[in-house]
Amino acid sequence: MDLSRRAMLGAMGGLVAGGALASFSGSSMAANTPAMSEGRNGHFAQMGGEFSWEPKKLVAAECAPVAYDGYWYKGFGCGYGVFYSIIGTMAEKYGAPYNTYPFSMMEMFKGGVSDWGTVCGALAGAAAAFFCFFPRKEANPMVSELFRWYEKTAFPIYNPGDAAQGFKGELPTSVSRSVLCHVSVSTWCHTTGKAANSKERSERCGRITADVSAKAIEILNAKIDAGKEWKGALAKQESVAGCTTCHGKGQMSDMQKGNMDCTPCHSGSSAVADKFHNHP
Ligand code: HEC
Ligand code: HEC
Repeated sequence: MDLSRRAMLGAMGGLVAGGALASFSGSSMAANTPAMSEGRNGHFAQMGGEFSWEPKKLVAAECAPVAYDGYWYKGFGCGYGVFYSIIGTMAEKYGAPYNTYPFSMMEMFKGGVSDWGTVCGALAGAAAAFFCFFPRKEANPMVSELFRWYEKTAFPIYNPGDAAQGFKGELPTSVSRSVLCHVSVSTWCHTTGKAANSKERSERCGRITADVSAKAIEILNAKIDAGKEWKGALAKQESVAGCTTCHGKGQMSDMQKGNMDCTPCHSGSSAVADKFHNHP
């Protein structure tokens, strides 16, 4: 390194020494990046290698309030709140590499990805945290456990008491039967009579952020204890098991994708009947 630097400066002379130094410091930065792995065909390979972060056990009761607070922090929302309560807590306790994550990007999941109402951001934040440590073979069952639990659970459960930032007191609950932000929020609003743009609804989602963080940490801790042997407790939903006997891989009508409960969308309820005619 030193030799080539001296040779370079010598060859270029004093006039361009400044420029030569600048380009040299550029190449020395490149020298600090990890070697490119063969698996990437000579292209950039991620820092530290794939799935190289070590998962750490956390205390759900400590992280749930962090998740709730993260939801309100700058309005970053549910995905940020859950992810920050998990990876951010590891960063707080253990520093690197957890503290190198660009946490604010998790704002993307707010409102089911930029207010599109797709997957509940709290769930997406948790899934992203799982995937910081485990490849899909191990992380997918963790996601399934969390998502199935979410479909069946009456939310919200968590109550911040006097620390409430949107609305103080008890909130009514509903079971969404769906992992979608849209279905989850709308079902709650329909069941409780609260507006989707009310403070109570924001508070509800803040509390769900804490609930999902706590459940995700329970799953993560169990996974760390059991290792590769870990299996979720919740069975495939009845509808998914039933409908995919024909609409599953290799079956007579293999044309559906996903593991979501089929019921809210295909049960012919009044909510999903034709609203374009004779309505309201
Ligand atoms: C015994 C086999 C079988 C089961 C079980 C089954 N389906 Fe089907 N389903 C079919 C077949 C065959 C079709 C027609 C497929 C085609 O057109 O290619 C179909 C069509 C559909 C369609 C397309 C619209 C329509 O009505 O033609 C939907 C939606 C659907 N099924 C949903 C479901 C859901 C949800 C369940 C579970 C509650 C389910 N199916 C269970 C065999 C089944
Ligand atoms: C979030 C709502 C939702 C969920 C959950 C859902 N579906 Fe669907 N599904 C739809 C919509 C919307 C379509 C497109 C309907 C259309 O073409 O008008 C569709 C299409 C289908 C089709 C193709 C037939 C068609 O008419 O396009 C099948 C088969 C199907 N779904 C089966 C299932 C099964 C089985 C499950 C559960 C494993 C399931 N769906 C879960 C909303 C849903």
